[in-house]
Amino acid sequence: MSHAVADTDAASLRGQALLDHIATDFLGLDTTYPLATGEVTRRVYLDSTASTLMMGAAHRAMSAFLEHYANTHSLMHNSARLATQAYGWAHDRILRFVGADPDAYTCFFTGSGVTAGMNRLARVFRDLRPGKDTVLVSIMEHHSNDLPHRKHLGRVIHLPVDSRPEGHGCVDLAAMEQVLKREQGRVNYVAITGVSNVTGIINPIGQIARLAHEYGALVLIDGAQMVAHLPVQMSGHSDPREDLDALVFSGHKTYVPGSPGVVIARQEHLAAIEPEEVGGGMVERVFTERYTVSSKFPDREEAGTPNIPGAIGLAAAIEVLDRIGMDILVAEERQLIDYAIERLKVIPELNIYGSTDTQDCPRAASISFNVAGLDHSLVAAVLNDYHNIAVRNECFCAHPYVIEMISDQAAEYLAMSDAELAASCEPKPGMVRASFGLYNTRKDVDLLVAAIRDIVTNRERYLPLYALGPDREYHHTTFESVSKEAFSIPRWVDEALREYGGQSPDR
Ligand code: ALA
Repeated sequence: MSHAVADTDAASLRGQALLDHIATDFLGLDTTYPLATGEVTRRVYLDSTASTLMMGAAHRAMSAFLEHYANTHSLMHNSARLATQAYGWAHDRILRFVGADPDAYTCFFTGSGVTAGMNRLARVFRDLRPGKDTVLVSIMEHHSNDLPHRKHLGRVIHLPVDSRPEGHGCVDLAAMEQVLKREQGRVNYVAITGVSNVTGIINPIGQIARLAHEYGALVLIDGAQMVAHLPVQMSGHSDPREDLDALVFSGHKTYVPGSPGVVIARQEHLAAIEPEEVGGGMVERVFTERYTVSSKFPDREEAGTPNIPGAIGLAAAIEVLDRIGMDILVAEERQLIDYAIERLKVIPELNIYGSTDTQDCPRAASISFNVAGLDHSLVAAVLNDYHNIAVRNECFCAHPYVIEMISDQAAEYLAMSDAELAASCEPKPGMVRASFGLYNTRKDVDLLVAAIRDIVTNRERYLPLYALGPDREYHHTTFESVSKEAFSIPRWVDEALREYGGQSPDR
């Protein structure tokens, strides 16, 4: 962590100067693990698309709040008032962050990621627009923006992405228009991700919204991979067809692990039906025979005691992102991802998925690839065991998109029955994904590139050291993963109890 600025000046830091401090102030940047060689090195965290590390400033704001922690359903004591005030501020701050008119939209927290929000909105739109049973999603969606619509609406059409000479691009708008025309009257809403969690490819959400609204469909954007990396403007466009009906994102991908999922949606849509979830806090009066639902937003959408510290930590992180400025963040992150693509794409043995022309097809945060002739789990394991580089492998909860792109394995995989798939001992299909947050540097990219070159060069040395396990992933045959050793809850409890010393406290 860097503390080179005098305290009085530090609070007024903005823009690049603030980014320079924040980028070095995340929990876990100095975490070390032993390698299979016995050497102990710093972990290089390249798995931010799964979950980002915790922003130090947000962690400190959240810890300070815990001194005042109380339930927002309590009314009169100081802590309850402070908690209610701070929790309310968190909602307002998020609406401002995503450019949503607070008179027209509400923000509410639900579950731990996008999944709960998507399930909720699918049920909301189903009830709001009965008879419109069809949802358009793209082939690149995460399961959380696909399965809830299948389950709650019934009919989901997967839109293709553009095929470009350099690989898959963003959602194919011409194909989308054709389907909207063909299915007119039946499409309830279009649910598309702002950024793919596999390739990092950015979708043109303004154009998607305009097109969907032209054909009478609503628009729901999955912002899980977008909100921490790109500016979002939900309302107030010069062409109101570009305004979004709903946006969902995840606190744990916005630098605050343990924070909730967030839904921002139009109040008029939510007000038209009874809230999908009922319980404490969202009602005015309850009798044994009837109850009256609160008309107040967001209260009516937040049944039960919410994740108050998580929401406060998330709002603190968002305040920091806005003080840096999303335009500055975008420029910084784009330079890094373009640098990574440039360095990775010249490795002949590497197949990078999705178009690598980042001018024509910009990306945010993620790059997925395979090394020719090596299983993705073996590559991910060697990166971990010999280079201390944390990446994710397999299908990243986006099976249809991944399967479509690894076309060499796709036909065989798709031909298998559910029973055959369940019984299979073959390695699973997949890719390796390196993903970036605002703490990553060119040095991290250089380490990844060097590690991949090492794997390519020394494949014959690594191959005999690994074997396929019952989980169908490759594991080192002699090196024990460190994770069990490095952290254990009872050991931390022991540590905490040791701090009490031998003395009995005065009570
Ligand atoms: N959705 C997360 C990912 O893409 C977990 O890795």
